[in-house]
Amino acid sequence: MMSSTIVQDIIHQHGGDKALLLQVLLAVQDADPQKYLSEESVNEIARILEIPRSRVYSTASFYSEISLQPRGIYLIRVCTNAPCENAGKALVLQAIEKELGIGAGQTTSDGIFTVECVNCLGACYMSPAIKVNDVIYGDLTPEKAVKIIAELRKEYQDGQNTSGSCI
Ligand code: FES
Repeated sequence: MMSSTIVQDIIHQHGGDKALLLQVLLAVQDADPQKYLSEESVNEIARILEIPRSRVYSTASFYSEISLQPRGIYLIRVCTNAPCENAGKALVLQAIEKELGIGAGQTTSDGIFTVECVNCLGACYMSPAIKVNDVIYGDLTPEKAVKIIAELRKEYQDGQNTSGSCI
């Protein structure tokens, strides 16, 4: 769970301005290790900005980038705009879903991966593209996508082994 101090700091950085609610929500979500807007965060934002919780929820629900559910450590965003669609996005998405055993909008039961479909990632010159957390991968094929997932799994496991070792 994210501390209320972080939420307070983010709101402070945005000048406590109610008009910047969306920016606040995105920043709070980014700061959460599970990349979502928790109920506690919603309550804190509503309290500090002195707005109804319903307004926070309606803004959060309107924007697909904001999630009210915890996301995986690796958030895989698959572009579904026309250029990526025409370049073979469907097969790439299918390969990702099959490899992870989940559909778009879902998180693996181990909490490592979430897959979401989004609009343009700004990488149309290398369609089809996906974004994993902050990294864009382009010119994808189903094979490349599966390889990326294998690399991410390894990265995660290596991180686990390192953090668990004693020196
Ligand atoms: S259309 Fe897919 S990244 Fe722009």
